[in-house]
Amino acid sequence: MARDVIIACDFAGRQQTLDFLDAFEGRRKPFVKIGMELFYAEGPEIVRELRRRGHPVFLDLKLHDIPNTVRKAMRVLSALDVDICNVHASGTIEMMRAALEGLTRPDGTRPLLIAVTQLTSTSEERLQRELLVGAGMNETIVKYAQNAREAGLDGVVCSPLEAGMVKAACGADFLTITPGIRFADAAADDQVRITTPARARELGSDYIVVGRPVTAAPDPVAAYERCLQEFLNQ
Ligand code: C5P
Repeated sequence: MARDVIIACDFAGRQQTLDFLDAFEGRRKPFVKIGMELFYAEGPEIVRELRRRGHPVFLDLKLHDIPNTVRKAMRVLSALDVDICNVHASGTIEMMRAALEGLTRPDGTRPLLIAVTQLTSTSEERLQRELLVGAGMNETIVKYAQNAREAGLDGVVCSPLEAGMVKAACGADFLTITPGIRFADAAADDQVRITTPARARELGSDYIVVGRPVTAAPDPVAAYERCLQEFLNQ
């Protein structure tokens, strides 16, 4: 699959999402990310509707449960015809293998399956003090990415600043999907480890996930096109 810019549609409901996407009518249909908020508010119909409108979809539900439950849940999601799904790598290799099995359709096709290594909101201090993980943050991220690769997954979500380290450990073809993107002349909001779309390209990201720099821009279409131009050189 080609590299691309994914817009995080972090909206509370269907109408807001469609109003936002209507501005792109007549242009390239952006790759969109549907997260828990929108999915829990609107259910699977919002996914079907955006697919019918021609948007590639990253369904960001971050599954984490016992392998049998994840396998069955993924079987349901695979019928939604999305392009990317994800799980938490901390669910273990066995859980990730079960997710992959559930996601694979009878004809052998399936969406890409990506693992979350460590959430960017988890600090190294909390990892050690609350979760009793003795290894450092980077060591944990690399190990979880290697587990995902071993389970047969296609890549991980990580910071662009970690993309090189993940590729070095798991191979250049192991996908990195990277949030934390900001334009050079913009505010960071609550993100900490941020880079520009152009820098993310240099660091080897395969997909960048961009939320507020596009959704909250005065001209979202222009902001999206700036992302494409910087990230894909087009
Ligand atoms: O608005 P912003 O560009 O910060 O949005 C980034 C998106 O990527 C949000 O949907 C956020 O939940 C998601 N994300 C993230 N960091 C992660 C994983 C997901 O920012 N580690």
